[in-house]
Amino acid sequence: MTAFFAPTVLCDQIALGLIAIDRGGVVRYVNSATERLLRKPRHRLLGEPLDRLLPGHPLALDVLARAQELAMPCRLRHARIHLGPSQELTVSLTGCPLRTPTGDTVGAILQLEEVGAVERLEAGQRLNETLESLGTMVMTVAHEVKNPLAGIRGAAQLVELECNHPATREYTQLIRAEVDRITRLLDRLLGLAEDHPLQPRELNVHEVLDHVLELAGQNPPRPQRDYDPSLPVLRGDRDALIQLFLNLIKNAQEAAGPEGTVRIHTRFANAVRMAQGRRGHHVVVEVLDNGPGVPEEMRNRIFLPFVTTRKHGTGLGLAIAQKIINDHDGLVEVESQPGHTLFRVLLPVK
Ligand SMILES: Nc1ncnc2c1ncn2[C@@H]1O[C@H](COP(=O)(O)OP(=O)(O)O)[C@@H](O)[C@H]1O
Ligand SMILES: [Mg+2]
Repeated sequence: MTAFFAPTVLCDQIALGLIAIDRGGVVRYVNSATERLLRKPRHRLLGEPLDRLLPGHPLALDVLARAQELAMPCRLRHARIHLGPSQELTVSLTGCPLRTPTGDTVGAILQLEEVGAVERLEAGQRLNETLESLGTMVMTVAHEVKNPLAGIRGAAQLVELECNHPATREYTQLIRAEVDRITRLLDRLLGLAEDHPLQPRELNVHEVLDHVLELAGQNPPRPQRDYDPSLPVLRGDRDALIQLFLNLIKNAQEAAGPEGTVRIHTRFANAVRMAQGRRGHHVVVEVLDNGPGVPEEMRNRIFLPFVTTRKHGTGLGLAIAQKIINDHDGLVEVESQPGHTLFRVLLPVK
């Protein structure tokens, strides 16, 4: 029993990342939370100079230098750590001098705490409540849209009967498949009031993404793919996931403009920290664009329904995306600056 309360064991249980460096700035200790936050195993962190682990982060190094100089803790509330070209983490940094019992400074401890993970989950829950109160309106609109959709489907079927041209058939089939998908989506929206259950089944996320790319690829810019082929299968609702990624990719295309670039990146993530300290394996899908970015003052509102900056926007794309992600027990993160916007979706692998 006492082994559980040994300091090193405790340090590996806490959510705060701890990094101890010696006077030369070389990493001497890291806990499990640090491995998770920096996405590197311990053996690749120990013995490295800190400025190599956090390249381009003079702020982190500055906090430590100040802590050692002033012999007191120093804190920076919001620091962005770039873990790679498309990975960014917002953390609060606290530096504390590391001293011997006689008061000599022998190094420093850096505490890293991820900012906003819990807030994001709470925002997702608040959004679900908002969506529920919008149920009545959604139902009216959904009913109205279903009738013309049936007309479009019927017309596509007629064209298909009239015309034997294989290319035309391909298009009419695409129209019908898409109308059917929208109809199913509307049915889901109509069922929102009674919280219509998803129909999860095993699926390959790349197959889903390729389908989305086929739909979205009709408009420029054509998204580029960067898939991790070793991803495990997911359990999810195929129609819902198609809708989710289509919404994100369309937004990226609109933001990037026809001459811009949109990239889809997939990977696997171990032991991501979720609500209440739960951890799990996730499939990560990132949608990147080089558009102007989400305006600063819009950042925490874009997932709300009817929030839009586009002339003909509905402001529903991200609200629906968030709902679908919540229904799949997933998480969405956004990083945005001019020329680099990233929507990262994490879906649990059960
Ligand atoms: N990739 C992106 N780059 C910049 N801004 C974005 C991006 N995606 C979404 N946004 C912002 O979020 C708003 C809401 O998006 P969304 O819910 O899809 O509604 P809509 O596309 O109808 O405006 C957009 O109007 C835009 O301001
Ligand atoms: Mg949109």
